[in-house]
Amino acid sequence: MEKILITGGKKLSGTVKISGSKNASLPILVATLLTDEDCLVKNVPHLQDVETILALLKILGKRISRHNKNIKISSTYRLDSEAPYELVKKMRASILVMGPLLGRLGRVRASLPGGCAIGARPINLHLQGFRKLGAKVSLERGYVQLDAPRLHGANIYLDFPSVGATENLMMAATRAKGKTVIENAASEPEIQDLAHFLNKMGAKIKGAGTNIIKVEGVNVLSGTIHEVIPDRIETGTFMVAAAVTGGDVVIRGANPEHLEAVMTKLREAGAKITLNNKEIRVSSGKNLKATDIETVPYPGFPTDMQAQWMVLMSLSKGTSIITETVFENRFLHVGELQRMGSNIQVKGNSAIVKGILKLSGAPVMATDLRASAALILAALSAEGKTEIFGVNHLDRGYEDIERKLRRLGARIKRIKE
Ligand code: EPZ
Repeated sequence: MEKILITGGKKLSGTVKISGSKNASLPILVATLLTDEDCLVKNVPHLQDVETILALLKILGKRISRHNKNIKISSTYRLDSEAPYELVKKMRASILVMGPLLGRLGRVRASLPGGCAIGARPINLHLQGFRKLGAKVSLERGYVQLDAPRLHGANIYLDFPSVGATENLMMAATRAKGKTVIENAASEPEIQDLAHFLNKMGAKIKGAGTNIIKVEGVNVLSGTIHEVIPDRIETGTFMVAAAVTGGDVVIRGANPEHLEAVMTKLREAGAKITLNNKEIRVSSGKNLKATDIETVPYPGFPTDMQAQWMVLMSLSKGTSIITETVFENRFLHVGELQRMGSNIQVKGNSAIVKGILKLSGAPVMATDLRASAALILAALSAEGKTEIFGVNHLDRGYEDIERKLRRLGARIKRIKE
């Protein structure tokens, strides 16, 4: 067991370099299943989730070699079509192999992802889309089996702009005969980066980044080289870290265009944000103004920043309302923040946050990836020491976060128990 120990109260200052995007890396690494040729994916962060997807690609028949942040994926000319339970249960994103394998082999057998801490997270939208593309879907003993000797283009409407369903269906459609239109598609930057990668492989995708994506099927996809976009949620997390500590931080290597909603809300709350070239500078006094948010699909305020925002609002002047519309159970961090002194009341899918002057350090348990980041932010701003357990969640999505925070002046260390 490991824990992270933080002594709060220091203003963060200095410069931090943002890593490559976890949520762009995962689908792009999976998309290499669509070709036997070599692919080189650059700027991939060192994260537990990346290790999990690489392990899955190896089981499916890929050869992986990694040099720092660059990963070369080549084929062994064996391609398996089964994603085993032990890997899918570790990480939901493993179900993204369904699209490429169905498109490439005409069949795939994947374990159904269990629910997780933040919600049931079914895959009905993925399966409905695969059926539209001509796949026969059967469920048995916790596995889903898809069969389609030849996928054909279709008009697919997503009831919800699901990121994963958009990615899965877009990858399958690259190999479907004819034209596919995905309406009410997700438009996140990670979808755009995946489409960019697929088009470099020879796919014909238009409209990624809008809610209508059009794909013209092709017979073969080739290897390519691609550099993954910066991680917008890591960027947002460091912006809030500067704000909650009343610090002054320069963030390098980020793409501010991916964070319009977060920057707008931070400015509304009173933080000072200046952009020059590819740098984002965030400086802020303590105890900003209470500012309501509602999480919605991109380009709205991202659900992956909700927990971090709740920490900032816990320290704001006034009362704010945080409404979570994407996941049905993403307030698990509330209990832990209350133990640090936050005044939060949950009513349905909203949290009413009454700002207080200071949080107090305490032993706390992380429950999911973004909740663990939020607890770190709370500890950085709190008086006294905080011990954070459940750091395995953190390692799934934040590369080198202790070192990055220490370089900004944080008193943070990891202890192996
Ligand atoms: C992606 O998850 C991200 N993960 C999540 O980030 C992110 O929170 C989420 O998109 C929303 O932005 C990766 O990209 C690897 P969804 P995904 O399908 O694709 C429901 C993080 O912290 N839904 O857009 O699983 C679902 O239950 C992670 O990095 C269905 O009902 O999200 C949820 O309530 C956490 N049926 C909502 O849609 C389906 O078939 C959004 O899910 C699919 C989804």
